Amino acid sequence: MKFLCAGSDLPEAGSRGFQLEGLKLFAVRRDRQTYVYVNRCPHRGVALEWQVDQFLDASASLIQCASHGALFLIESGECVAGPCAGQFLEAIDCREDSQGIWVTL
Ligand code: FES
Repeated sequence: MKFLCAGSDLPEAGSRGFQLEGLKLFAVRRDRQTYVYVNRCPHRGVALEWQVDQFLDASASLIQCASHGALFLIESGECVAGPCAGQFLEAIDCREDSQGIWVTL
């Protein structure tokens, strides 16, 4: 597994982007669970964030693509509204321990 970041670097209801081994990823924490996805919208293959480390909509309850506004469930990466509805973000296996958040690429 690869080290992503310290647990404290990802606040509750927050998101953060990473570059790891040439791969763009982002992580979201919600209800103390951590979710990691490849930072690539299934619609056009572009990065999702609208500002550095900003991957969520205004309510912080959905992932939002900045390009055309697609909305994705945080828990599954499923697109529930927008031009790629029904498609999924690519999920990355992750786990968290006392050192921080780890991912399997
Ligand atoms: S590129 Fe994400 S919605 Fe179009």
